[in-house]
Amino acid sequence: MKTLLNKSSSFHFKNDLSAINRIVVPAMASQTATASGYVTEKTLKHYANLSNSGAGIVFVEYTYVHPTGKSEDNQLGIFDDQQISGLSKLSKVISEGGALAGIQLTHAGGKTTREQTGGALMGPSAIAVPVKDQSMEIPTSMNQSEIELWKSSFLSSAKRASLAGFSIIELHSAHGYGLNQWISPLTNQRTDNYGGSFLGRLKLLTEIIELIQVELPEILLSVRIPGRDFLEAGLSQEGTIEIAKYLEKIGVDIINVSSGIGGWRRPADRAGQGYLIPEAKAIQQNIGIPVIGVGGIETGQFIDEIIGNGNISFAAVGRAILNNPELWKEKNIA
Ligand SMILES: Cc1cc2nc3c(=O)[nH]c(=O)nc-3n(C[C@H](O)[C@H](O)[C@H](O)COP(=O)(O)O)c2cc1C
Repeated sequence: MKTLLNKSSSFHFKNDLSAINRIVVPAMASQTATASGYVTEKTLKHYANLSNSGAGIVFVEYTYVHPTGKSEDNQLGIFDDQQISGLSKLSKVISEGGALAGIQLTHAGGKTTREQTGGALMGPSAIAVPVKDQSMEIPTSMNQSEIELWKSSFLSSAKRASLAGFSIIELHSAHGYGLNQWISPLTNQRTDNYGGSFLGRLKLLTEIIELIQVELPEILLSVRIPGRDFLEAGLSQEGTIEIAKYLEKIGVDIINVSSGIGGWRRPADRAGQGYLIPEAKAIQQNIGIPVIGVGGIETGQFIDEIIGNGNISFAAVGRAILNNPELWKEKNIA
């Protein structure tokens, strides 16, 4: 069944930026970049194709802000000014499809290998990041100069994203990657002022957000946070509601709710469409800025239900769109 809501559900953000509907293509690694992180023809084709889904927002995949934050071969990078021209073409193909173009910025922290990063492996504490079916090396606990390196790398990358024409910058603080490691009590056990308390664990993320807000006040800032970590001693739903309330208070524009240290895949006890919507709904009930929810969503009808009754503001559709963007549009919107 086609959806009516999607056709008449534009959303107006600040600075005259609007999404034509409430459907989001979330960040999904395409592994189409060169070995040193540059956009290729394949990358452009991939995103032109995703834009044919008719979604209101298309996020470009997790893009590393510094070589020490790289997590896989052919990952897209945004750590060098020379990458701006390829990224500009990428934002253009997305905008031409009618969507607001977003890009996700990431540092892998301890969720990578020394082979990928050229030797470094750093995180908030010397605690191996729990990754399903994989045993990660123990990272070194970051010192102040490494903290400053992350801050300047996120800021310069945000500036490059803006110069490349992206309207939304998303900070990847979910799925166990770097910033998730900082905000989670499971992986951040520091005793200095970058840990130890709710505000301590959020200090690095806050400083990055504030730097971006000062330099790029016009940009829409999204933070992808866990609905919960799905691991004992990790972030709970109550904790992530507090985080979302705090991020709203400091001026973040969008909260994108996924999963945490345990990774993005469906938790064993969740069935059906919208497997992470309960967490997104609980967060949306506590904040006024738009929340994006995700998890196994397939149909426009389901999106109508969850958005129509005010559970969340935007629905992210990953694999169902990735499989065949045009067919998805034809079946669900057009
Ligand atoms: C191939 C693939 C790559 C992904 N890469 C990212 C990524 O770069 N950043 C991110 O936040 N999530 C990533 N994810 C998770 C998706 O954004 C999304 O949360 C997940 O696929 C669940 O949504 P779905 O059930 O609609 O596919 C990826 C998922 C897939 C399938």
